[in-house]
Amino acid sequence: MIQLVDVVKQFTTRKGKITAVDHVNLNIEDGQIYGIIGFSGAGKSTLIRMFNGLELPTSGDVIIHGDKINQLSKQALLKKRQKISMIFQHFNLLWSRTVFDNIALPLEIAGVDKSTRIKKVNELIKLVGLEGREHAYPSELSGGQKQRVGIARALSNDPTVLLCDEATSALDPQTTDEILELLVNINKQLNLTIVLITHEMEVIRKICHRVAVMEHGKVVEEGTVLDVFNHPKTEISKRFVRDDIQDSEIETSIEEIKEAYPTGSILRLKFVGSSTGQPIVSRVIKKYGLDMNILAGNVKHTQAGSFGNLIVHVEAVNGSLTPITEELRDHGVEMEVERHG
Ligand SMILES: Nc1ncnc2c1ncn2[C@@H]1O[C@H](COP(=O)(O)OP(=O)(O)OP(=O)(O)O)[C@@H](O)[C@H]1O
Ligand SMILES: [Mg+2]
Repeated sequence: MIQLVDVVKQFTTRKGKITAVDHVNLNIEDGQIYGIIGFSGAGKSTLIRMFNGLELPTSGDVIIHGDKINQLSKQALLKKRQKISMIFQHFNLLWSRTVFDNIALPLEIAGVDKSTRIKKVNELIKLVGLEGREHAYPSELSGGQKQRVGIARALSNDPTVLLCDEATSALDPQTTDEILELLVNINKQLNLTIVLITHEMEVIRKICHRVAVMEHGKVVEEGTVLDVFNHPKTEISKRFVRDDIQDSEIETSIEEIKEAYPTGSILRLKFVGSSTGQPIVSRVIKKYGLDMNILAGNVKHTQAGSFGNLIVHVEAVNGSLTPITEELRDHGVEMEVERHG
């Protein structure tokens, strides 16, 4: 368990005091993938750097597995940092070392003997999917491969917590997805707690279990990813969610759809975190012999299920819609009638 208790971080600059982190309280359970999102300057990097003592709080405590990070001796902090490792946006690899030697570095520093080192590095290379590239230099790797080296190096001392500071922000969308998938795999395989900061809601949606939204140094909203996506409370969360799901497109298309389909029913199927996703819809269609046409939709996937909307057109419904509505609801899909025809 990671606990942040009333954490404040101020910087004194020539222009005066800046409060980068402002009375933040957080609890992060072991084994979670925990996302922290905010715009540039919100205080995310400052916050995450206090998890491993790269920055010390001005006041408050950072407690990881019972140890107050801000009160550890220098020696104890160095030891603790082996268990709270970090990956970075720009990878921070050593350019003069090969892939193998970059990953081996923390083990060398920890005084691990050579044969154990070789065994461990080979395991890690396999885990992150870099077989065959052991002897390449960072300059010979793609961005995604460099981040894989960063991840392997971060895992070399068997950490319990992995901190990710914008780990995918320098990567293209396809490579981002691959790295996110790798993070999900290591979270599951190693039961590793992952704390990641990002300014992209898509990253949060795809892999996080819980999310905290930061603005001006404060955590303004916190909850499960599904809750925040389904019911964002603050303006800033609403904006992040809207940018990711772009549901305003659906609202404009509904009016056009009604004009284009003057007869029949137009229904909105709302997914609010159903684990079954779309198969349930096709099952119900078959069972009730509906002739259903999907017209527009925006269903997104999270670690806890799908959410979003599907707009469908049904030419003729024999009898009442009630049993269909009930059956869908039993499976976590709400049905609203946009127009009954
Ligand atoms: N070492 C420092 N000295 C003075 N001010 C700092 C220092 N580090 C950060 N700040 C200030 O603290 C605030 C928060 O910065 P921080 O880097 O934590 O934001 P961020 O959310 O990570 O932003 P970004 O998304 O751009 O990385 C900013 O106003 C920044 O200028
Ligand atoms: Mg930052």
